[in-house]
Amino acid sequence: MQASGQTVVLEDVQLTAKRIFDLISPELSLVEEEFERQARSNIQVIAYIGDYLRRSGGKRVRPALTILSNYAAGGDGSNYSSIRMATVMEFLHTATLVHDDVIDKSETRRNVPSINSEFGNQTAVLMGDWLYMSAFETSLAERSLPILDILTAVTRRMTEGELLQLTLLGRTDITEEQYFDVIARKTAYLFSACCEIGALVAGADPLTQARLRNYGMKLGIAFQLVDDLLDFTGTDDVLGKPAGADLLEGKLSLPLIFLLQRRPEMRGAIQAVIGDGGYTNVARRILLEALEESDALQLAKERAIEYAEAARASIEGLPSSPHAEALSDIPTYIVDRDR
Ligand code: IPE
Ligand code: IPE
Ligand code: MG
Ligand code: MG
Repeated sequence: MQASGQTVVLEDVQLTAKRIFDLISPELSLVEEEFERQARSNIQVIAYIGDYLRRSGGKRVRPALTILSNYAAGGDGSNYSSIRMATVMEFLHTATLVHDDVIDKSETRRNVPSINSEFGNQTAVLMGDWLYMSAFETSLAERSLPILDILTAVTRRMTEGELLQLTLLGRTDITEEQYFDVIARKTAYLFSACCEIGALVAGADPLTQARLRNYGMKLGIAFQLVDDLLDFTGTDDVLGKPAGADLLEGKLSLPLIFLLQRRPEMRGAIQAVIGDGGYTNVARRILLEALEESDALQLAKERAIEYAEAARASIEGLPSSPHAEALSDIPTYIVDRDR
């Protein structure tokens, strides 16, 4: 019964995703071309890295947000400025992933070996730096201080998010407030920046800009909440990255915070998994069962739904258009996705 319910949700979410991404598929193809052009033109000397970047595509959620926001704010999302800025956002995102996998010692990303596992930490650190700087160089062509303001602030915040997370690593006394602070910085500000920059490139008025900025912020929180849930409920194959890794890395996410609030006696087991760096003394199944039985997973999912709803509400005032409608559909896609 539950399995078939799950199948229905997955079919729905695939249809929703198709509707959203099909609407801007010509623009996203242009982003792919631009991404490839940027990766190739700048690092011919280290062509193997360019090859690597080209063959490992992600979901492209961030460029989609930039283009849809641009259209929804009255712009032409297919013009070069929109495509270029959408590409910049994916470059920035890729930079954070390349560094994140070094920090998390993660060996797989997008179903292929991560840069650090294939080429080593030295290459991965430099590669991430190179991606950050290439993103900034490309964005300079817009000659827009407001865009640069947003990009520098978001880059600083993402780094703060990862640093803050490091200081909390291995701790089982993390508060909800600390958790939300980390995920806002490491993930949500970038979503917000994608939407706001889309609006800026469209020459949107301040109210439209603020609506899209707020939408991105709420959406980004929902996105990371779901990423953290999928770490418990997903599989390596579907996710393209190791499942169950967060706790092994010492990261306590919202489901575990909720579990500890309800079942404080589980603290020892959680600490054992962190200490062992594996599910040797405490089986993953035991932990998953406790998360299920205490409703911790369900409660975290409800939080994600709340943020997704808040995202949708933030853009209710936008003029109606197919692109605004697609933006309203994205929260559902994000909450119901399986990867
Ligand atoms: C992964 O982002 C990093 C998080 C913020 C959770 P995505 O899930 O968008 O990764 P790709 O781009 O699709 O690989
Ligand atoms: C995402 O955090 C943070 C980034 C901004 C890269 P995670 O560490 O949960 O991301 P994944 O799960 O490795 O993609
Ligand atoms: Mg990680
Ligand atoms: Mg994760």
